[in-house]
Amino acid sequence: MTKKIIRVLGIESSCDETSVSIVEKSNNKFRVLSNVVKSQIDIHKFYGGVVPELAARAHSDIIDKLVLKALSDAKMTFKKIDAISATAGPGLLGGLLVGVVAGKTLAHYLNKPFIAVNHLEGHALSIKLEREIEYPYLLLLVSGGHTEYTIIKNFNNYKRIGTTIDDALGEAFDKTARLLKLGYPGGPEIEKYAALGNEKKFKLPMPLIHEKNAYFSFAGLKSAVANIVAKNRCTEKFKKDMSASFQATINKIIFTKTQNAINEYKQLVKSKKNLKIVVAGGVAANKSIRISLKQLEKRENCEFLFPSIKYCTDNGAMIALAGIERFERNKFNKLNFKPRPRWPLDKNAIFMKGKRAVEGKY
Ligand code: KG4
Ligand code: ZN
Repeated sequence: MTKKIIRVLGIESSCDETSVSIVEKSNNKFRVLSNVVKSQIDIHKFYGGVVPELAARAHSDIIDKLVLKALSDAKMTFKKIDAISATAGPGLLGGLLVGVVAGKTLAHYLNKPFIAVNHLEGHALSIKLEREIEYPYLLLLVSGGHTEYTIIKNFNNYKRIGTTIDDALGEAFDKTARLLKLGYPGGPEIEKYAALGNEKKFKLPMPLIHEKNAYFSFAGLKSAVANIVAKNRCTEKFKKDMSASFQATINKIIFTKTQNAINEYKQLVKSKKNLKIVVAGGVAANKSIRISLKQLEKRENCEFLFPSIKYCTDNGAMIALAGIERFERNKFNKLNFKPRPRWPLDKNAIFMKGKRAVEGKY
């Protein structure tokens, strides 16, 4: 018989946010009892990107305090927690080690199960923190480290149908922002500037756009921006026009590739139900992308679901939720589980970065 109320403490430390959360499941509903997030933006903004060593140190400086804060916010004691879950990959090794060691130590000391969670599974399931959703559905995950379309067939049954062959989408936003001397993280800055500029001012390439698949390439786009930046004075007007042109180009790419992914999904999944597409990860916060994707809804008879921004960016709640799903299925991990900096959600998906795109062959 399954336990009536399940509570898991989830730890996230794979990139530049340290987060600890307690999530409860009762009567088939999830409730976030606490979700403490400490961003490291102030540490990394000087460098225009995440510095792995500094990230790991910052996680280790604060993780114990966040665990205690998560407990007190939830008005909870360790006694009432059933298991400890921690992101064990993919991500930056130093940060993963901090979260995994903290999780294992707690689990051992408290004599509770330890659950190693794939960060991407956290993003894939994050929508359940706020609403019910039936399997299967399509996931578009767009973050600083990942860009992929994955069919969430069922729990623990994932098929990736497209990804990037070079930079992640968030990385493209961050690198472009750096070229334009905008702040870090770049995504929100570009979005702000884009709203004030002329999107037709610069014509940027759309790599792989004519290939009828769900694969992306963003590296050439960044080089094109770099070339234009080199030939212009970086005035406020220039920044606005370039941001607007970049945002419009990204919108077109995401729109077209999502259309392709929907076609592929429909061929692979024979379901009579309306297709639901969950857009998760930090870049899913981008309103312009959201508006652009929504235009596909009528035509494709589908619905886009966006988790709240606090659950789009990295958070412990999605890790606790994935922990609950695993707890219910007795999927526990031994205390010798090693963090996995590379850990695809779809076990059969091959590592694509650095591969050359050959039409039709991915
Ligand atoms: O999911 P996330 O918080 O961390 C990773 O797992 O990577 O995503 C961070 C990424 C950064 O690249 C950031 O620039 C991007 O999400 N991002 C955005 C926006 N907000 C955050 N990109 C575009 N528009 C936004 N509004
Ligand atoms: Zn993430």
